[in-house]
Amino acid sequence: MTSGAAKLSTKNPSLENFSAVPPMDSLGAIRKFLNNYLIGSDELIEKLLICLLADGHILIEGAPGLGKTRSAKLLAQKLDLSFARIQCTPDLMPADITGTSVWRPDRGVFEFLPGPIFHSLLLVDEINRAPPKVQSALLEAMAEKQATVAGETRALPNPFMTIATQNPIEQEGTFPLPEAQLDRFMLHVELSLPNAETERQILDLLEGAILSEAPVSDIPWNTEAILAARKGAREIFLSPAVKDYIVRLVTAPRDKSFAPDLAIKIDYPASPRGTLALAAASKARAYLLGRDYVLPDDVLALAVDALSHRTILSWQALSEGSSTRSIIKAYLERVMPT
Ligand SMILES: Nc1ncnc2c1ncn2[C@@H]1O[C@H](COP(=O)(O)OP(=O)(O)OP(=O)(O)O)[C@@H](O)[C@H]1O
Ligand SMILES: [Mg+2]
Repeated sequence: MTSGAAKLSTKNPSLENFSAVPPMDSLGAIRKFLNNYLIGSDELIEKLLICLLADGHILIEGAPGLGKTRSAKLLAQKLDLSFARIQCTPDLMPADITGTSVWRPDRGVFEFLPGPIFHSLLLVDEINRAPPKVQSALLEAMAEKQATVAGETRALPNPFMTIATQNPIEQEGTFPLPEAQLDRFMLHVELSLPNAETERQILDLLEGAILSEAPVSDIPWNTEAILAARKGAREIFLSPAVKDYIVRLVTAPRDKSFAPDLAIKIDYPASPRGTLALAAASKARAYLLGRDYVLPDDVLALAVDALSHRTILSWQALSEGSSTRSIIKAYLERVMPT
């Protein structure tokens, strides 16, 4: 790993005016702010910012009370973007999220009242409780950045980012997201319970011990700063060797002879969307860490979150209790960067 990383760390000479510097200061401040108010969640915070920078959507999965909603609300506080939250329930209607046209008798016209989907940052809480029609309206919004209401298609704002949460425990009254919808998320992050030390810090925080400290940054990030940072993240150099590493990683499960013992556990491996998401997220991670080139380490850090939700297990894997995350991890141990 180390030797591969060293070999691939050549900077891109064409990136002289690398635009990481001005937004990076405030990006660092946002990260610090989130870290102060969301204890022990640096990895989640990093992935939230990666999706923001890479123009992706994020699905956060975890048991109740792990700070999923809090993380999205804190991020919204630091971004000068319009923010809306949808709490999904089985009786939600597509018009509740897209908006609807209402008749104005005084003016004799229909007026469109936009729904929460027309906000730049959208928190979709408990997305697996939304019925399929609502999930499909969300799918259109996430994939095409548009919403169709009463036959009329309207563009969503730019940036538009969805932070969706789901709770893996409850099954009753839920509608598991179809594969096509899962594929729309750049990263799927799974949260685990904190350790005792972190738990104590959370208690201290909420007791007000840390809340009395001044927030590190009061400068919210506006649309202009986000779009500039996204441009910076897109310009990060992805060397042919790292591209090749990503492609070998994503395509390894499609080649039944590469690792037959693992391939037998997968019915449907990730599509090219997985490759694109992993590449874009890796660039955003490099940008976030202040580098202008992607290392295999970036790919390694994100591969499980970028690929596991796009991979469908075989009945054999399911019967053994294997998870997509453990299988992608096993591939990461066998597919080496060059
Ligand atoms: N890492 C953390 N740092 C600070 N506060 C936390 C953290 N984790 C949980 N909390 C606190 O625990 C409570 C529950 O958090 P939150 O509502 O965000 O959980 P959730 O994951 O959205 O739960 P649910 O799935 O039930 O909606 C909140 O008061 C939140 O402030
Ligand atoms: Mg919540």
